[in-house]
Amino acid sequence: MQTANYHAYALLLLGLLFAPSVMGEDVSPERAAMLAGSCANCHGTEGRLEGAIPRIAGREQSVLETLLLAFKHDSGPDVTVMDRIAQGYSDAELSALAQYFASLEVDHED
Ligand code: HEC
Repeated sequence: MQTANYHAYALLLLGLLFAPSVMGEDVSPERAAMLAGSCANCHGTEGRLEGAIPRIAGREQSVLETLLLAFKHDSGPDVTVMDRIAQGYSDAELSALAQYFASLEVDHED
């Protein structure tokens, strides 16, 4: 019984660990919104903060996606942290994040 429980638990943990990469090709809007939560520390709630870092909410989806993929694959401008952050996400997740932030309404457009 103990062993069976342990195995079930181990399988569950493995599932959680690998879920992001397995689901990488099909990122739901809900999942994108969840992933976006970890961007708020630096980019403000819903990416609305602007200042030293340009605002990301309400920007053109293709621009955000291009930037994020360039950060991840080290082909963009010199950055301080975004290269390391972007490497934590699959390409599909980055494109879902770009879509999420682009879909947010802001008072003024760029
Ligand atoms: C530790 C702070 C931090 C976190 C967390 C963070 N960012 Fe950034 N982000 C920055 C900084 C600083 C820059 C400016 C480029 C640089 O120096 O890395 C930036 C730049 C960007 C840019 C480019 C904006 C532009 O117009 O140049 C995008 C897009 C972006 N971040 C998206 C995200 C997304 C999406 C997340 C969450 C997955 C995220 N960031 C999480 C700090 C952060």
